Formats: sequence, C-alpha cells, structure tokens
Amino acid sequence: MGYDARFRVWRGDIDGGGLEDFTVLVNEGEVVLDIIHRLQATQAPDLAVRWNCKAGKCGSCSAEVNGRPRLLCMTRMSTFTADEVITVTPMRTFPIIKDLVTDVSFNYEKAREIPSFTPPAGLEPGAYRMKQVDVERSQEFRKCIECFLCQNTCHVVRDHEDNKQAFAGPRYLMRVAELEMHPLDTADRREMAQEEAGLSYCNITKCCTEVCPEHIKITDNALIPLKERVVDRKYDPIVWLGNKLFRR
Ligand code: F3S
Repeated sequence: MGYDARFRVWRGDIDGGGLEDFTVLVNEGEVVLDIIHRLQATQAPDLAVRWNCKAGKCGSCSAEVNGRPRLLCMTRMSTFTADEVITVTPMRTFPIIKDLVTDVSFNYEKAREIPSFTPPAGLEPGAYRMKQVDVERSQEFRKCIECFLCQNTCHVVRDHEDNKQAFAGPRYLMRVAELEMHPLDTADRREMAQEEAGLSYCNITKCCTEVCPEHIKITDNALIPLKERVVDRKYDPIVWLGNKLFRR
C-alpha cells in the first residue's frame, strides 16, 4: 500500500544551497532512489542525482540518507517508518557539483598515484599457479565497486580538508595492500604506503568497513595487515638489519 512520505533533499551548487521539503508518494518495495526519481518526474525536474545500474553494482548513487553514507538504490524505504522525515544530502567529503552530485575526482587522482602491478620480469603466462588463499584475498578486495562511501566516511579527510593531499583513503590503501600481498608483485610498497599514501593517518576506526556495501573487511583484511608489514620493516631488528645489508 502506498503512502505519502516527507523528504528533505539538499539542493544547490558550489556557491551554496539548503534543504528543500517535499511530500512524495512511496509504493511498496521501493528504494530511496525510486523516490528521488519520482521527485524528478513530478516536482523537481532539474534535481541532479548520479545513478546508473540501480542494482548496487555501479557505485554511482552514493549519498547520505539521514546522515549515513549509503547507496540510494540499496536503501529500502521499508527501513524507515511512514511518519519519519527522510533527509537526503550529497556526500560531504567531496566538492558539490549540483544537488546530490559531487565531484569525486580526488579518488581518481589517488588511484593514479599507486604504482601498478609489477610481476617478475620474463614470467611466462601460466608459469605460476596462485594458491587459493591468495586468489581469495585479491577477490575480496576486487569486489570494490568504487562507490567512494568509505572515502567519504573516513574522518581523516571528512573533517580535515587539509589531509587530502597526504592521505589516499581506505579504498586506495586497500589497493596498495592488495598489491603488497600479491605473491607475484615484486615492488616493495611499504614505504610508499606510509610516506605517500598516509597509512599512519588511519587509526583503525573501521568506519570505512561499516559503510562498505560489498561488506569488504577493509580495516581487518587490508589496512591492519598493511600496517603490520610496515611496522615489521621499520622496527623488527632482524628485518632492519636485513634491509641494511640487502638494501630492501
Ligand atoms: Fe579511516 Fe577506515 Fe582507517 S575509516 S581511519 S581508513 S579504518
């Protein structure tokens, strides 16, 4: 059975804006993105929202619903009561383009800074068999749909614009971890992770893991193991001596 819901949607652009109130029909089984589309169709034809697959796989419709970073297409209206006011705002960490659409190019810049996969020279295709445990580790990280909800949530950049230069964010530290733990990657990424990607800024609050729509254990499986590797390199006296002797 349908009902009228009260929505507050942020409208505006880089110069400013505010919340606008709407009353809009909700049908059984709908998600927040359906309601935003109904608003566009009936009351706010110029309301900007980025979306694509409506199936939780493209990572486009990231926004904040009642202050919580979420995919609009995966947020069921049935999670709210009929008398609740539902507030939809753009991701806070990135610059506004218009309404619910933000400029996420920060993330692409960070992606470009990571040195690419570096297999051993001359390795023939099929000459190496990966262990299942190594395959599964990469596969978990590769479930990432680049919705950037983790990047948006992490307090290191969410509340500190000035940290953006020095911190790659959980999504890209996870990429560094994936490559660092890949059995065929020959690059040593530990110094890069610490000095250039800002791994030390992460104080393992796990907010990134909590908002991941793919349920990737970003903190436990990527960030903490990466930190352990960095610490091993820096503080283990035997590793330290080995590094000195063999320059690695
Ligand atoms: Fe940020 Fe995740 Fe670390 S939210 S502080 S990158 S555990």
